[in-house]
Amino acid sequence: MAIAVYPGSFDPITFGHIDIATRAAKLFETVHVLVVHNPGKNPKLSLDKRVELVKAVLANKPGNFVVSSLASGLLVDYCKEVKAEALVKGIRTNVDIDYELPMAQVNRDLSGIETVFLPADPAHGFISSSLVKQVASLGGDISKYVPAEVVEALKN
Ligand code: PNS
Repeated sequence: MAIAVYPGSFDPITFGHIDIATRAAKLFETVHVLVVHNPGKNPKLSLDKRVELVKAVLANKPGNFVVSSLASGLLVDYCKEVKAEALVKGIRTNVDIDYELPMAQVNRDLSGIETVFLPADPAHGFISSSLVKQVASLGGDISKYVPAEVVEALKN
């Protein structure tokens, strides 16, 4: 049973994240989509709300998903607990490589776990949660970037 963990802040989940999660689900029998508290970030949506949205948007997508959260502690400890063989991350540009590579290396150094990088579909290459939040906060239309549930959540 090949198990992978796809971690992130998902503040909020975007069509780019959904694309990576569904593609990962073709490579792994089970994909844990893990909503992680990132101490370096000040999230707009609560951890519980983010988990609720991830569950809602993946409910009708093909793949065997487990959606959960990590409020504290190391990602690699979660991976050990669920017997994951790999981490999955999406890569849009070289900026993502610069950000993700040291995390992949430290996670491998800590526990031996490998990280699989999936190249973002160019259709989603410029979508980021931070841009989505900025456009939404300035009254722009974000419906091309995130599912309807997320559009609604960001209105409140
Ligand atoms: O979506 P993000 O915010 O870029 O995701 C980063 C995240 C949450 C995956 C990363 O910060 C993380 O793994 N946090 C968990 C704490 C941890 O294990 N840190 C050490 C290895 S990076």
